[in-house]
Amino acid sequence: MISMASVNKHYGSLHVLRDISLEVPAGQVVVMLGPSGSGKSTLCRTINRLEPIDSGTIAVDGRPLPAEGRALATLRSEVGMVFQQFNLFAHKTVIENVMLAPMKVRKLRKAEARRHAEALLDRVGIANQADKYPGQLSGGQQQRVAIARSLAMEPKVMLFDEPTSALDPEMVGEVLDVMVGLAKEGMTMIVVTHEMGFARKAADRIIFMADGVIVEDTDPETFFTAPSSDRAKDFLSKILGH
Ligand SMILES: Nc1ncnc2c1ncn2[C@@H]1O[C@H](COP(=O)(O)OP(=O)(O)OP(=O)(O)O)[C@@H](O)[C@H]1O
Ligand SMILES: [Mg+2]
Repeated sequence: MISMASVNKHYGSLHVLRDISLEVPAGQVVVMLGPSGSGKSTLCRTINRLEPIDSGTIAVDGRPLPAEGRALATLRSEVGMVFQQFNLFAHKTVIENVMLAPMKVRKLRKAEARRHAEALLDRVGIANQADKYPGQLSGGQQQRVAIARSLAMEPKVMLFDEPTSALDPEMVGEVLDVMVGLAKEGMTMIVVTHEMGFARKAADRIIFMADGVIVEDTDPETFFTAPSSDRAKDFLSKILGH
């Protein structure tokens, strides 16, 4: 579903992605770990072309990423992305936030978009919040709206970049539950997270990055019990040590 080959990316003189090659089959849930600055966000952002790359190739569902125009808009709708900040439209209601893109990009009629949005809000457990404004919701609820909004475009792939990092601890679980549900339904997912419980429970595969390189690529059990690199051992001792 996602295919990256020899991808390189620089920010000025900083080589952020170094010859990254990665194949993610349909339905796989990849959790991406690594120290701050290792390139996890950048990698995610290249997959829906929020960041252009310097060399290499990226394909989603067998099609190379388009550079611009209509084809790029289509790609963006096929690759959903959820960030730490929810980026909801503050002056639109919850359900309007979810209806907007399908109406604009997919040309869905309003009634159809609303029906679809209601079903999605129900799926993420906030059907009763549909007519509120984002500012009236808790962080966990807002993040679930953001997930519903991405799902409204019927993406083939979902990218999550630290979706629970900005949340109060008691709201992390409700967002992770939605993500576990998506994983079970067979969504192809790349998830950057520090939630090790989620990584162990939901990931099919752990990618560990350091300094722009994929250092380990293995199953969760192996990664957490027998990491092979010193970088991963060091990372795990820091993150599990407190
Ligand atoms: N727009 C930018 N311009 C210049 N440098 C950037 C830009 N975005 C990221 N970087 C740099 O690229 C490197 C990789 O950043 P990236 O955000 O991908 O790391 P990360 O693994 O997601 O880190 P974190 O865990 O802190 O989110 C860092 O050194 C960062 O400072
Ligand atoms: Mg990041």
